[in-house]
Amino acid sequence: MSETSPKLRAELEGIPTYKPGKPAAAGGPVAYKLSSNENPYPPLPGVMEAVTAAAASFNRYPDLSCAALVEELAGCFGVPASHLATGTGSVGVAQQLIQATAGPGDEVLYAWRSFEAYPIIVQISGATSVQVPLTAGDVHDLDAMADAITDRTRLIFVCNPNNPTGTTVRRAELERFLDRVPSDVLVVIDEAYREFVRDREVPDGVELYRNRPNVCVLRTFSKAYGLAGLRIGFAIAHEPVATALRKTAVPFGVSQLAQEAAIASLRAEDELFGRVGSLVGERTRVLEGLRAQGWTVPDTQANFVWLRLGEPTVAFAAACEQHGVVVRPFPGEGVRVTIGEAEANDIFLKVAEGFRREL
Ligand SMILES: Cc1ncc(COP(=O)(O)O)c(C=O)c1O
Repeated sequence: MSETSPKLRAELEGIPTYKPGKPAAAGGPVAYKLSSNENPYPPLPGVMEAVTAAAASFNRYPDLSCAALVEELAGCFGVPASHLATGTGSVGVAQQLIQATAGPGDEVLYAWRSFEAYPIIVQISGATSVQVPLTAGDVHDLDAMADAITDRTRLIFVCNPNNPTGTTVRRAELERFLDRVPSDVLVVIDEAYREFVRDREVPDGVELYRNRPNVCVLRTFSKAYGLAGLRIGFAIAHEPVATALRKTAVPFGVSQLAQEAAIASLRAEDELFGRVGSLVGERTRVLEGLRAQGWTVPDTQANFVWLRLGEPTVAFAAACEQHGVVVRPFPGEGVRVTIGEAEANDIFLKVAEGFRREL
């Protein structure tokens, strides 16, 4: 038998592995997972029933075109059904967007630090990541990003609000940026946390997309809608891009369970808005609590807060874990803490207070 292993693409060398948020420890007195920006609420009314009914026929393939969901989304957003494309979470759709636009020799531009899947999916494609540092205030530096566009740039991610900082770019600066981007470069506005935005100056990407054929909006059912485990997200884009997304989709990637759950969630919007409102209230409480303790925390419009701790990041995360909350450390930079149940947020605030006193 030969000793050589199958030839694998050189691009796979050194791809950073995606670090999922650590699960809450089992068996402790309390254990809250504030490490993955998930929704602390159980499924919305009607969702369990829809999923249970769909489960009875999972010997069948799902609807490949997600037709009923697409119809529902088209009505919700006031866009043609042909402008919608679904996928296995918005990260799946993001990967399809890169496959559709970029390969070896091409560049994909995004702010850094931002969503940690971007460098991974770019590297898999063989394209090159161009990362533009956030400003000192942890916001996208859109002027520097526009300056970094070259004739090899194929796709630009604008993560709004940004993961992990929660910071946003506002309408005037985003429009000015879009005006500077060549019309043959795709701009993907990743709005995974859109439902949590309360700042009216933060534009809804769907409005920006309408008269800009090179703008695509990414949304997900994983965060506000609480369907992270079912893997479903979607893009709204003009027809050439939406068609390309259908070509790059894994056939039957979105399960019927996910499709039915998404439809039922959209139909429970009143309840959804109530829950999101409560989380936004908790977000304000946590932010104000941290600032009262003396921390400098950037404004957040997402379901998490960012503490730029620098060196003691890992020690802070360990202290949180000791007290029963698991947060997401980015060693040497800071921690991202999801807004969870009030009890979990209380524990986090208490740990932050004690840690601050010892700094
Ligand atoms: C900015 C951003 N985009 C996309 C995603 C992916 O979400 P999903 O693939 O669950 O839809 C996340 C998840 O954390 C995110 O933070």
